[in-house]
Amino acid sequence: LTLATALDLLPKVELHCHVEGTMRPGTVLELARRHGLTLPTENLDELYSYGSLNEFLAIFWLVQSTLGGRDDWARLGYESVVDAAGHGRVYAEMFFTPARHLEAGQRLADIVAGLAAGIAAAEAETGSKAMLIADIDRAFGPGPGLQLVTELGELRRSGAPGIERVLGVGMDSTELGVDPKSFAEAYRTAAGFGFRLTGHQGENSPPSAIAEVVDVLGAERIDHGLSLVDDPALVRRFATERIPLTVCPNSNIRIANAFPTLAAHPYPKMREAGLLATLNTDDPAMTDLDLGYEYFSVAEAFGYRFDDMVGIALDGVEATWLDETGKRDLR
Ligand code: HPA
Ligand code: ZN
Repeated sequence: LTLATALDLLPKVELHCHVEGTMRPGTVLELARRHGLTLPTENLDELYSYGSLNEFLAIFWLVQSTLGGRDDWARLGYESVVDAAGHGRVYAEMFFTPARHLEAGQRLADIVAGLAAGIAAAEAETGSKAMLIADIDRAFGPGPGLQLVTELGELRRSGAPGIERVLGVGMDSTELGVDPKSFAEAYRTAAGFGFRLTGHQGENSPPSAIAEVVDVLGAERIDHGLSLVDDPALVRRFATERIPLTVCPNSNIRIANAFPTLAAHPYPKMREAGLLATLNTDDPAMTDLDLGYEYFSVAEAFGYRFDDMVGIALDGVEATWLDETGKRDLR
C-alpha cells in the first residue's frame, strides 16, 4: 500500500468544498447545451483554465449558470457526493451559492430540494454523507445576502423539503474591495434562525478582515484564513480558541496563485502554531483535485507521515458542526 493509496482510503471529512466547483466537465457541457448556453471552449481539457482568483470566479459563475433548475441541482448533488466518496470522503459540509440563480428567477426552495434529493440518493448508494452551507455571494452586496438568509429562515420555519440539510450560512466570491462588516445584518439574521456561521476570508485580504468575520459577524470558522499567519497575535488567539480554518493548499496555488509551489505554502507553519487548520479541496473538479490527492500532496511536500495525516483528519472531525455523538461516530 503506497502512502497515496492509504491517504485516498483514509476516511476524511471536508468542510470547504463548493458543490458547483465539483461539477464534472462533461456535465457542464451537457447542461450548457441543454440550456442553450455557449461555453468559451468545448474542449473539456481547456474549460477550467484561469490565471487569478477573479478569472477563476468568472468561470465559476459560468459553471453556475448551467444549473437551470431543480433537476440540475439534484444531478450535481448526486455526482458531487459520488465522486468525493471515491476518494475516502465520509462526511462533508458543502457550500452552494445561489445568488445568480435567485436573481435569474429560480426558487430557493427548488435549489435546496434538488440538492438535498441528489445528495440523499448518493448517500444511500455510497454511505458518504453531506450537509450544506448556503453561501452569500459577496459580489451581489449585502441586500441579496440578507434576502437569502431571510428566505432560508422561512424555509426552515415551514419545514421545506431538504432544508434540514442546510446547517449554516457562509459567504464567498471576491474579497477585494468588500467590507465584511457590511454583511453584519445578514449574519445576525442567520444566527437568529439558528444557522451556524462561517465565512471565506483571508484568501487575498488582510488578517484584520479575518478578525472582523469572527468578532463582528460571529463566524465560528474561517474558510481559507491564509493571511492569518501575517498576524502572530491573532494566530495565538485562533490557536487558543481552537477556531477552525478550512485551508485549501492546492487551491491557493492553482486558483489564487498565492505561492509558486506547495512547498511554499504556510500550512506547516499553521499546524506548528497550534491552529486547527483542516485540509480541503475548495473546487476539486475545476482545479483537477480530489481529497485523497490533497492529503497526499501535503504529506509529500511537508514530510508528514501517515499518523500525522490521521491527526489532520481528526482535526477535521473536531471542526465539523456535528454534535458529540456525530463526531464520535466519525472518529
Ligand atoms: N474563493 C472565493 N469564492 C469562491 C472560491 C474561492 O476559493 N471558490 C468558489 N467560490
Ligand atoms: Zn472556497
